[in-house]
Amino acid sequence: MKALKGVRILDFTHVQSGPTCTQLLAWFGADVIKVERPGVGDATRKQLVDVPGVDSLYFTMLNHNKRSIELNSKNETGKQVLTRLIRECDVLVENFAPGALDRMGFGWERIQEINPRMIMASVKGFGPGKYEDCKVYENVAQCAGGSASTTGDLDGLPMVTGAQIGDSGTGLHLALGIVSALFQREKTGRGQKVLAAMQDGVLNLCRVKLRDQQRLAAGPLKEYSQFGEGIPFGDATPRAGNDSGGGQPGRILKCKGWETDPNAYTYFITQAAVWEKICDVIGEPDWKAKEGYATPPERLDKLNEIFGRIEEWTMTKTKFEVMDICNPHDIPVGPILSMKEIAEDEGLRATGTVVEVDHPERGPYLTVGNPVKLSDSPSEVTRSPLLGEHTEEILRDVLGYSGEEIAQIGESGAVGDLKIAAE
Ligand code: COA
Repeated sequence: MKALKGVRILDFTHVQSGPTCTQLLAWFGADVIKVERPGVGDATRKQLVDVPGVDSLYFTMLNHNKRSIELNSKNETGKQVLTRLIRECDVLVENFAPGALDRMGFGWERIQEINPRMIMASVKGFGPGKYEDCKVYENVAQCAGGSASTTGDLDGLPMVTGAQIGDSGTGLHLALGIVSALFQREKTGRGQKVLAAMQDGVLNLCRVKLRDQQRLAAGPLKEYSQFGEGIPFGDATPRAGNDSGGGQPGRILKCKGWETDPNAYTYFITQAAVWEKICDVIGEPDWKAKEGYATPPERLDKLNEIFGRIEEWTMTKTKFEVMDICNPHDIPVGPILSMKEIAEDEGLRATGTVVEVDHPERGPYLTVGNPVKLSDSPSEVTRSPLLGEHTEEILRDVLGYSGEEIAQIGESGAVGDLKIAAE
């Protein structure tokens, strides 16, 4: 039994943001039917190819547990098939460029006519307003959502982050909207539109920076390194390097081996509650009661000196030794883990967060499993579908077409070459 068993998703998504959302829903047990253009499919199948001729990792890692139907939604027969799919599904998820669904003839009003219970969920770059027609990719959203202006070094360029907060982040937001709309439909019997704009999703994840924007009116942001360095603040939240975004000062500090290993670093947080333990660990017991060091506000203009001293200590230890020494004292630290270390991490494999999946064309590869664990609805990660792998199965089993009708649909050019489901 899975949490979303019985929920059928018409997955019109592509690239990253939408597929992240529908992959999560599939892991929670929804039947996700991915609609792809015949012979072409999701563009990511052929992007960043590492093994020629097979689906890229970009595609496989975002489309697990789904079925694929090839369907030309601009062909007349294809439109009839799509109409039946809309009737049979609970949710349509899409992240086309603005207006694409209307141009196909399947705008919100038409969808409601076909199936009033349908939930139509969209990712767009921007919400309603002057930019609503723009096409948007990840880094555009990071810039327009406030992340880039607040990321990076104070004296450096605005910086995008490796975490895909615009794409995957918005996909997560959309999934929550869909589940909420399904819950509401239980009571009202009606579907509704769900919109997650990437700019909004990024801003939601950057809300602490809008907090700081408003705090600036009350004076300098004392927990930012630039305060201790005597650098005046401007009129907007500045970039803060690796300063902590919260009330407990933190920095990335060198560890043993940093000269040759680009990831021999730790994040170290001088949480107020464990200040005395930190002083003992780094060999500065006098700082516990020393004037100017004993309380958090007193320390704010000395953070460079304090972290410099802590770093002298961390440089004598590996990042894992720092973790082992600090954890028993509840001192919050985190090793900077490389993707190589994460790929090899036994703990992450044991919890199903890193999973090895077998693919009929590329063989085994690693992926990230469901990061959300439900005790009564465990997620098993199954491989992504080949293009059109389930076309015939869906036409027959979901839509109830006869063999003869399926052959006619095949001849119409609506579905590409029909394949009998592999495996
Ligand atoms: N059958 C027939 N046509 C299909 C089809 C199918 N199964 N699937 C897609 N198409 C068509 C669309 O209808 C559209 O045609 P139109 O332009 O004539 O209306 C066309 O394919 C291309 O769709 P589009 O979404 O414009 O793709 P793109 O590659 O030009 O743009 C994005 C890609 C991501 C920039 C754009 O989709 C977008 O801005 N999406 C919203 C924001 C978003 O999710 N961005 C992040 C992506 S990770």
